[in-house]
Parts: sequence; structure tokens; C-alpha cells
Amino acid sequence: MEIGIDQITFATTPFYITMDDLADARQVDPNKYKIGIGQERQAVVPPTQDIVTLGAQAASKLSPKSLRNVSTLIVATESGVDNSKASGIYIKRLLGLNDYIRVVETKEACYSATAALQFARGIVALNPSENVLVIAADIARYGLNTPAEVTQGAGAVAMIISQNPRVLTIENTSVAYTKDIMDFWRPLYSMEAYVDGKYSNQVYVDFFLKTYHRYVQLTGRSLADFAALIFHLPYTKMGKKGLDGLLQDDASPVAERLRNNLAAEQKVSRQVGNLYTGSLYLGLISLLQNGDVTPGERIGLFSYGSGAEGEFYSGILQPDYRNQIGDDLLQTLQKRHQLSIGEYEKMFNDQLGMRKEDIIYDIDTDPSEFVLVGQQGNQRIYQEK
Ligand code: COA
Repeated sequence: MEIGIDQITFATTPFYITMDDLADARQVDPNKYKIGIGQERQAVVPPTQDIVTLGAQAASKLSPKSLRNVSTLIVATESGVDNSKASGIYIKRLLGLNDYIRVVETKEACYSATAALQFARGIVALNPSENVLVIAADIARYGLNTPAEVTQGAGAVAMIISQNPRVLTIENTSVAYTKDIMDFWRPLYSMEAYVDGKYSNQVYVDFFLKTYHRYVQLTGRSLADFAALIFHLPYTKMGKKGLDGLLQDDASPVAERLRNNLAAEQKVSRQVGNLYTGSLYLGLISLLQNGDVTPGERIGLFSYGSGAEGEFYSGILQPDYRNQIGDDLLQTLQKRHQLSIGEYEKMFNDQLGMRKEDIIYDIDTDPSEFVLVGQQGNQRIYQEK
């Protein structure tokens, strides 16, 4: 039985800043941010948005027919809103899903959407008529005036995993690799991540090479068997570091095609920033909307989560993929509102975060369909507008 991604959609916040403005405010050469890091714009999160509203926004773009058949909802995130309750239960209500459903949350930094996808394959293999909804939703938050501020971002990707998938059939061979290291983490008392950025970059490339080479050993495949290799993108330059580590100075047509398709993967990410769990899958949509790929070809995917865990796996592109990947994102993202750095800093500081007191936000300032209205009696209040 073929199992994989049947539909895939994306949502982010309605607000952004430009890296030119951020560089100006932080007194940094803009080329460091735009070329050295590889970002143009960054999604900014108003206090009326969190992973629940972003996840609901992404999933509401899936077809009603696929949603009706969902037996399990898995939300992959490292920006959880409760230490106990699964965020997916709020999303389940906002989407109006059937009560006869299983809902859980997974966590392992930016990696856990890939674990969720692999778990979903198992569920579908045992129950072929069921769909699993995987939502990867996160807010990448490092702090104002930190070196990693330029690598913030936010958004969610929603995927239906089913039999006879119309986007990407997932192949059986995958290689996961895990080591207990401290390259990026967020203690329970902190809303901002701690990161050893340069170390993290090295571990990422090392894990990519380890998992890719083992995959090649197990399958007997080579570079020429891939139309594209796509990467988790905490910032777009990171994907280049990964691919450069493999290709080095290879100038063959196969290597050039992989470089061009990496550029296609990076296009949307440059406009949004880091999604943590969703970054690899936003990269997949960006590749499919902007790249040189043909049904029947193989795409290799490298997923990475600090802490650290990597997985390399592959899928075969399906004939009807163009109709199952949502609207053209580069066009859609043009409709967002640009903020000044002062407005961004205010929104950054206005997040609900770890506050305990009751609060009601002005939801009229947020044009999104799903909003966080506030908090009353230690309970978050969500609404569909
Ligand atoms: N023009 C062009 N490029 C420039 C430049 C300029 N004026 N100034 C600097 N650069 C380049 C540097 O050469 C460097 O490129 P390289 O990485 O290819 O060597 C890049 O910009 C970054 O410069 P650097 O001095 O290393 O930046 P930094 O000390 O501020 O740290 C990160 C950058 C990425 C380490 C930091 O933003 C971070 O920690 N980010 C989070 C890391 C992360 O996401 N980790 C999780 C991995 S999954």
C-alpha cells in the first residue's frame, strides 16, 4: 500500500518586518541578514495568535472531505500553550472535527513533525480508510537584540496523511540519528530559546551527512536518483550549508539541479523566517510551487531538531500534486501588513507568555480567521471570527 502526504497547506501571521529595517535598527550591515543568513522578511506574531490559531488557520485550508475522514490529529510543536492539555484539542473544536477522534502533541525541537508523519504512516497502514491530520505549528522566538533574532519567524503547516496520497508517497527506508547534546533548548521558565548557534550549525551538517550516507548504503541509491534534496531551514543559509557539505565543488548537471531546487525550497522561507517544526514542510511546498520537479521523481528530505535528532527519508512525487498544495504562497504573502521595528517590539513584548492574570485582547486589530481572545481564570479563550 502507498502511504504519504495527500494534501499540504500553510498559514502564517498577517504581519511582517523587513530585514533591511531590522538591520538598520540593530546597526548591522543588511547584507549580513540578507546574504549571510539569507532572510528578507520575518513573520511577526500579534498577541492574538499562537500555535492553536496558526494550526487552525493552516488546517482550515484543507478540503472539508479530507477533514471529515480524520481519525487522529497530531500537533508537532515546541511552542506548546499548556504543559498538560494537547493544543490539538482546541484546534479540533475550532475546525469542527468529529468527537470520535484521537488527539495528541509531539515534541523534539524542530524534528517532531517528521516523527508525527512517520507515526501517521503506521496508523494508516493498520487502518487504510483513515486519514491522519499532522499539524506542525511554532513560534521561533529568540529575543530582541540577540544574534539569533534575525532567525525568528512563525507559522504552521497542515498535512493529510493517507493511503494513495496525491502529493508525495513516502518510501520505507528512512534513517534517524539521535545524540544527547545541548545546541538549542528552552527551559520551562523561559519563553525564549537558548542557543549555541555555531555548534548547532556544525551538528546539523554532521547529522545530515551521517543520515544521508547511511540511507545511500541501505538503498544503493546515489545523487542522480534525487530530483531535489530539501532541508529543515531555521534560516535559508542553513540549507546551503547542508547541501554544500555533501556536494562540495561538484559542478555536474545533477549537482547543479539540486542547487537550483534548493533555491526553490528557500524562496518562501526567505519571506517568513523560521517555523521550527514546519520549516522543512514549508520548504516542500515552496519547492513544489517554484522548483523543477516532475511526477514520478524522488525528493529527499532532511529533518533536524536540536537536542539533537536528524532523519533523512524520501518520497515520490505524485501526478496530481499541483492541485493539493494550496495557493501560490509568494503571491499570498504579499498581502501581509508591514510593521515598523517599534511596532514589532511592542507585539513581541505583549505576548501572553507566562502571565497569569486575566486579559482580553482587541481582536479587531487582527484580520485572521482564528484568534486568541485572551485568558480568563487561567483558561485560554479561542474564537473563530
Ligand atoms: N555580508 C554578507 N555576509 C555576511 C556579512 C556581510 N556584511 N556579515 C556576516 N556575513 C555572514 C558570515 O560570513 C556568516 O556566514 P557563514 O555562516 O557562511 O560563515 C553569516 O553571515 C553569519 O555571520 P556570523 O558572524 O556567523 O553571525 P552570528 O554570530 O550573528 O550568528 C547564527 C549567526 C546563525 C549562528 C545565529 O543567528 C544563531 O544562533 N541562529 C540560530 C541558530 C539556529 O537556528 N540553530 C538551530 C539550527 S537547527
